[in-house]
Amino acid sequence: MPLDITAVRRDAPATLTNAYLNAGTNGPLSRYAAEAIAGANESQLSEGRIGPGIYERSLAISTELRSAFARLLGGGDDEIALTHHTTDGMNIAVWGQKYQPGDEIVTTSLEHPGGLVPVLVAAKRFGVTVRVVPVEITDDGPTTAAKVIAAITPRTRLVAVSHVSWKSGVLLPLTEIAERVHAVGGLLAVDGAQSAGAIAIDVRALDVDYYAIPGQKWLCGPDGVGALYVRRERILDTQQTFAGGPALRDGNAWDMAGNYLPGTTARRFEVATVYKPALAGMLASLHWLEGLGYAVIYERIQALTAHCRETLAAIPGVTVYTPATQAGLTSFNIEGVEPVQASARLGEMGVLIRSVSNPDLLRASTSFYNDESDIERLQRGIEVVIGEQ
Ligand SMILES: Cc1ncc(COP(=O)(O)O)c(C=O)c1O
Repeated sequence: MPLDITAVRRDAPATLTNAYLNAGTNGPLSRYAAEAIAGANESQLSEGRIGPGIYERSLAISTELRSAFARLLGGGDDEIALTHHTTDGMNIAVWGQKYQPGDEIVTTSLEHPGGLVPVLVAAKRFGVTVRVVPVEITDDGPTTAAKVIAAITPRTRLVAVSHVSWKSGVLLPLTEIAERVHAVGGLLAVDGAQSAGAIAIDVRALDVDYYAIPGQKWLCGPDGVGALYVRRERILDTQQTFAGGPALRDGNAWDMAGNYLPGTTARRFEVATVYKPALAGMLASLHWLEGLGYAVIYERIQALTAHCRETLAAIPGVTVYTPATQAGLTSFNIEGVEPVQASARLGEMGVLIRSVSNPDLLRASTSFYNDESDIERLQRGIEVVIGEQ
């Protein structure tokens, strides 16, 4: 059944006033998330944060949230750690390897700092060589994957790449990269910030080892909640950088002689107390999306993105850079206009997109709550910007 887009937009009210074309930075918060957060805050205030049943209730929310993320990604509940954001997950994966001096990490020139900086910092500390694969903004998925595969050597311990680039929007085919890096004994860590909620993800079919995602972008959740998938076989041999109670098999699995039993699920990468209303909000958003149906959501995103791309490409003076192998992001430029200025001017007209730098581009995100009228507003806004030159 197609989405009832009027109801969808009522449930993500920030989409009612603006042409909300920036899920890539922050999606609109869903009404359900906001209500769950408000409800959880109210009960913390009036009931308190301890007392009969309260701990059990919050445990149930975390458990169900791991399950909901597992369903989204195609992994098992035991393979999901709750994190605060994508960057948390990438740090866990990157710092979790046993590096020897001379080992290599392969990444690309199109990575976001959230995935790239952990690699640079860990490499410096461990004496690891970083091989940054130069990728053109217009390189399609297979071309990009071929470049990554060519950079893998017997010294490659980790490939750290985005499933969808935040700059070019290219969708990277991952399975051949996984096959090649596994063949040399290395692992694949994927930054899923621009894919989770935008395209179907099946971590098993993709054969990845780590997959880090945020809640606040395409999944319309609150700030401060994300997830990391850790392949079951990697849970015990991934080194811990931060550790706390959840790292143990159970709360008593340690002794004063320094022995402890490690946890056997990805929960071992969670550390301690978190902001529980945000977990309730995230879960409410995921239940909303599941109710709408992920398949319908992804199909609509594909159709709207194709429409956005065609509309932009038809405007004289606009160049689209994103290759056709894309998810929900489209990067483009307006001839003779600085992207930062264009984005600010469009924002004044209620058209929310963003600019990225190096190379300097504009980037539109088309998600399931958008419709043709949003893309038309983008088109008209760009024509105004061009007319003002
Ligand atoms: C590809 C990519 N990775 C990582 C991030 C950082 O996200 P987070 O704040 O969830 O760590 C972003 C944010 O825009 C992104 O686009």
